[in-house]
Formats: sequence, structure tokens, C-alpha cells
Amino acid sequence: MEKLLINGGNPLEGEVRISGAKNSVLPILAASLLCEDNLVIGNVPHLQDVTTTISLLTEMGANLSIDERMNVSVNAASVKNFYAPYEMVKTMRASILVLGPLLAHFGEAKVSLPGGCAIGSRPVNLHIDGLKAMGASIKVEDGYIFAKAKKLKGARISLPIATVTGTENLMMAAALATGKTIIKNAAKEPEIIDLANCLRLMGANIKGDGTPEITVEGVKELKGCNYDVLPDRIETATFLVAAAITKGKLTLTHTRPDTIKIIIDKLKKAGADIAIKNDIINIEVKSQLNSVNITTNPYPDFPTDMQAQFIALNSIAKGKSKVTESVFENRFMHVQELVRMGANIDVNGNIATIQGVKSLKGAPVMATDLRASASLILAGLVAEGDTVVDRIYHIDRGYECIEEKLTKLGANIKRLP
Ligand code: EPU
Repeated sequence: MEKLLINGGNPLEGEVRISGAKNSVLPILAASLLCEDNLVIGNVPHLQDVTTTISLLTEMGANLSIDERMNVSVNAASVKNFYAPYEMVKTMRASILVLGPLLAHFGEAKVSLPGGCAIGSRPVNLHIDGLKAMGASIKVEDGYIFAKAKKLKGARISLPIATVTGTENLMMAAALATGKTIIKNAAKEPEIIDLANCLRLMGANIKGDGTPEITVEGVKELKGCNYDVLPDRIETATFLVAAAITKGKLTLTHTRPDTIKIIIDKLKKAGADIAIKNDIINIEVKSQLNSVNITTNPYPDFPTDMQAQFIALNSIAKGKSKVTESVFENRFMHVQELVRMGANIDVNGNIATIQGVKSLKGAPVMATDLRASASLILAGLVAEGDTVVDRIYHIDRGYECIEEKLTKLGANIKRLP
């Protein structure tokens, strides 16, 4: 199994180009199942989760081609197999995103139930309930969701929790249903708006994305289009923390500063100098930062996908801080690894209390999920001596060329076979 070896201590300096958003490209790839033309997707990040989704679509019978600029063209006209097997869903929960499109376009789907994962139990009951409200007949048997619908019908769906992929699944299904669907308490993440923008270009009639109430007027069919994926706000924020934790100076290009306002506010509050111009963010940190309290919540609040990275930052910042995880029930697996590197952190329920220390020390550590691995890499960048991060297949799921990008910025990091 590959590992990353990091020798900490170098401040990061230079320019980094932000990649397309993982959590946008995955639903947009799934949206290709809604039409019979080519959906050509640009700004596609080179990630393991993208490869997994491409394999899933290919297994279903879709035709895919990738050009030299990583534009991915998908044509789902030849899809005959409406099946997402356990082997794929267990490596990538976002495979559940094929459920809505398959059902809406082909009238049936068999998708493995994702199990629990390293950050919580993560059920998909709300996806299923929403599709049932649209007239689908769904049974769950032998670990699989079996769904059928001659034609989905518009419905009023009130989500008890603003689920991101749930909202995406229902929005895609509603795009081809007869009549009007209203999704109340919809998720408002920028990736929802990105998917809606793509669906609108395909001919869908969607309003209200980015607000808690999305209205979809179903259309008879959707067509292909060319669409460039939104820049990745979590990659952007992770590089900002990398600059902050190493007391560096970075320029981030091709990003969308408006999607990470709360992160920028927190970093400024901690003492970072940040300047924004269009799609560029400059950050400079000259001295040790102050720690900041955070509470994760759905967008536009602080993203759970940045909680682990901020715990790493708070570990060597001045003072005491509290980090409250309100989205997932078990997303503190990185804490014990950071403690092994010398961090002073106590976890009580969903609250981590962090007392900043002067320095961290390199150690062998184990990544448990994607964002946990990012936090361990960040800690390794600032720790004294060598840190070896094991199970880095997690990082390859969501950060494009992480060690190449960090090396270019002056980090001492290499992949061990
Ligand atoms: N939930 C339910 N029932 C459901 C669906 C969700 O109880 O049917 C609960 C979850 O257990 C959780 C909460 O609702 O407590 C919110 O989960 P949500 O459904 O919004 O998460 P998701 O759609 O599975 C997406 C991202 C995650 C990100 C979360 C929260 C994608 C592919 N994944 O997951 O990204 O953490 O939203 O913002 O968009 C990551 O990129 O590392 C990652 C985990």
C-alpha cells in the first residue's frame, strides 16, 4: 500500500492552480444518464472517485471518451445495465447518485446500499423516501435498492435534513418527471447550483437552487451540452490552511473565493493576510496564528469537509479552541493520529477541545478518510522530522496530484510504494 513521506518545516510559497470540484463532477457525470446525447464535461479533476464513476458508467454500457485536455464525453444512449454493484458503491458512496437518473430515464435501477463509513452511518433513506413520493416502487433486499417507475410524477418533498446528494438525486429525477416537484429544505451547497446549471443547459426547468426551496418542472427529454465543473472549494480551503500552517505565502488561481467566505473569515480572524481578486486568492502568514472556534453545519456555514484540516491548524495555533462537528456523528478519527504527533486534543461527544502546542513531531500515522488524510498531511508539513501517512488511497479519491502540487510549492513530500 502506498504511503506519503513528509519531512516538515518548509514554508509553502508559490502559485497553485485549483482543480475542478470532486463533489460537482460526480453528480454531473451521473446526470449524463438522463439523456441520449453527448454530455461533455470540462475542468474534470483527475481523481480516483472520477475513475470509479467512469468505470461504473462504462459497466452500465455508456460510451465514454476523454480528450487530451481531460474533457470527458459521456453518451448514455447505449446503457442497458441499470445496476451499481456493491464493489463499486462500497469504494465510493457517491455511486448512489445514479439512482435518481436511472429511474427517471430508464424506469428501473438496482443500486447497492452504501454501508456505514469512517465518518458515520450515513443512511440514504431520504433519497429513497423522496423517490417513493414521486411514485417509484422501491424495495430494499439483500443489501440492494430495487427501484421501478413507469414514469415518475412531480411531488412535494420536505427533507427533514438538507442532504446534499439526496437533493441532487431528487433534482435529477424530477427533471424528467411529469409535472412539478418542490423540494423543501433542500441543500444549498455550491455543488447543487453547479449541477442545476448543467441540468438547465441540458434543457431542465429548475428554479431556486441555492435556496432552501427548489422547484423543478419536469420536461419530456434532456439533451447533451458542454459544461465546465466549478472549482473545488475544499481543495482551495485546504491549500489556504497549508499556507497558514507552514507560515507561507501562496497564490491560488482558477478558484471561486465566493464559495468559501466563512473559511476566509476564519483565517483572517486567526491572523492571516488574505487578498482576493476575481478568481485568485493571495494568502500570507508571517507569524503563528491564533486558534479559532468552529462549528460545522450545512452551507453557507462552516463545511464539515474542512473540520479535520482546521483541527490540524488549531493544534499548533495560539490558545485553546473548540471544534463542534454537527453534520456527521463520527468524524474525529484524525484526532488520535494528531495526538500521536504531539497535539493536545480532547474529544467529548461531538466537540473537540484543542490546546495549541508549540510544535508537532513527525510520526507514522494512518489516514481513515479523505479529509482526515488532508489533515494529517497538513500536520506533517509543519511537524519536526518525518511523518509517514499510511492508507493514502483516501487522499487520491479527492485531491488531484496532491504531492506534485505541494512539491512545487516547496514541500518535502514523496510517495513511497
Ligand atoms: N442523512 C440521512 N439520511 C439520508 C441522507 C443523509 O440521515 O438519506 C444524514 C447523514 O447521515 C448526515 C447528514 O444527513 O448526517 C448530511 O449528509 P449528506 O447527505 O448531506 O451527505 P452526502 O450527500 O452523503 C456530501 C458530500 C460529502 C460532504 C457532505 C456534507 C458528495 C459526493 N459528498 O455527502 O463529502 O461531507 O455532503 O457536506 O457530495 C467529502 O468530500 O469528503 C465528503 C464526505
